[in-house]
Amino acid sequence: MLRYPIRQSTDADAFIPITQTLPPLTTVSPLQPKDGVLSVQDTRKAAMEDLAARINSKKGTGRMKGKVGIITGVGPPIGIGTATARLMAREGAKHLYLLDYDDTHLPSLVSSLKADYPGTKVSHVKADAASEPAVVDIVNQALNEEGHLDFFFANAGISQLRPKADANAPLAGLVQLGRKTGEIPHEEFTEIMRINALSVFLAIKHAAPALAKVAPSKGKTVPGGSLVLTASIAGLKANAGPLPYSASKAAVASMAGTAAYELIGQNIRVNAICPGLIQTDMTKGLFELAKMGGKEDKMGGINPMNRQGLPFEVAQLALFLASDDSSYVNGQALAVDGGLTASVPYVPIRARL
Ligand SMILES: NC(=O)c1ccc[n+]([C@@H]2O[C@H](COP(=O)([O-])OP(=O)(O)OC[C@H]3O[C@@H](n4cnc5c(N)ncnc54)[C@H](O)[C@@H]3O)[C@@H](O)[C@H]2O)c1
Repeated sequence: MLRYPIRQSTDADAFIPITQTLPPLTTVSPLQPKDGVLSVQDTRKAAMEDLAARINSKKGTGRMKGKVGIITGVGPPIGIGTATARLMAREGAKHLYLLDYDDTHLPSLVSSLKADYPGTKVSHVKADAASEPAVVDIVNQALNEEGHLDFFFANAGISQLRPKADANAPLAGLVQLGRKTGEIPHEEFTEIMRINALSVFLAIKHAAPALAKVAPSKGKTVPGGSLVLTASIAGLKANAGPLPYSASKAAVASMAGTAAYELIGQNIRVNAICPGLIQTDMTKGLFELAKMGGKEDKMGGINPMNRQGLPFEVAQLALFLASDDSSYVNGQALAVDGGLTASVPYVPIRARL
């Protein structure tokens, strides 16, 4: 009898039993290889432990030396923007401008960045990333203070209008999970498009002219820079998020290509990042729910990496795209999803052979 695993593409996969032919779990003790091979569970554990060591390292390569950049949607202790700010500082950025409309965690993030990476200046602003005056202000602030801008990471976003999960109500945000389009008020569609898509439009509109400027006396002799936009695999494929979120992220992926062509000849690159299931503040409720059901180790189990992603892993792509290392990567929407979108869904088939 052969069994084929059921594979789905949504965040809620942890709650769908997967009929998968896995090596036996019991015979191998934790992280003890048998004939040099770890069990699937231990491989996952080992990968996560290795990742933790790389996240905690403070050693950079200096590849962002001299760079001035803006990051939006940054602050939560576990978030893509926060992980990116850390990585940019570790890689020697000259000045980071951080923007979030919820500044609860920004002051402590700024202090810890300054303590760990004293060579990087860090400024923060409490503002709406989808407000045109706020975007104009932060771009001008960078230009006035540093004379140049090298990258803009337009990362702020929401998945749906819902209470944010917190320590007291970790599952609050899940109440609305699974609503169909007929149950979503049109005001919610408009607000999600405003935050997720308009914020990116404004970043392109106002950062591009700033990126194009040189400032030889401040060390920028080559015009150009990088616009990095956070989309989602929900913007590429169906079944990975509610309709308003997916539509807004498809708009972001589309803007990367269109803006790249519009900015022809200016040495400005525009790329979108499309994360899969990443363990952050946004997805906290899902992870809490899985934990309550004892299925924590099933999260992300439908992608070939057999685990969820961590913000640091998305930050690595943001770093690459913001840096000169990606100087010929342009107009792309790149998935960082453990391979999830490389597959097509399939259903179990039983056959007697
Ligand atoms: N976590 C995932 O699985 C996942 C998957 C795909 C895409 N993404 C995208 O990654 C980005 C970062 O998400 P995250 O998972 O780190 O979530 P998060 O909730 O931890 O961080 C998002 C941050 O954006 C801020 N923000 C939201 N709207 C804003 C606005 N209008 N102005 C300023 N700040 C605003 C929030 O306050 C928060 O600090 C989002 O665009 C999200 O859609 C996340």
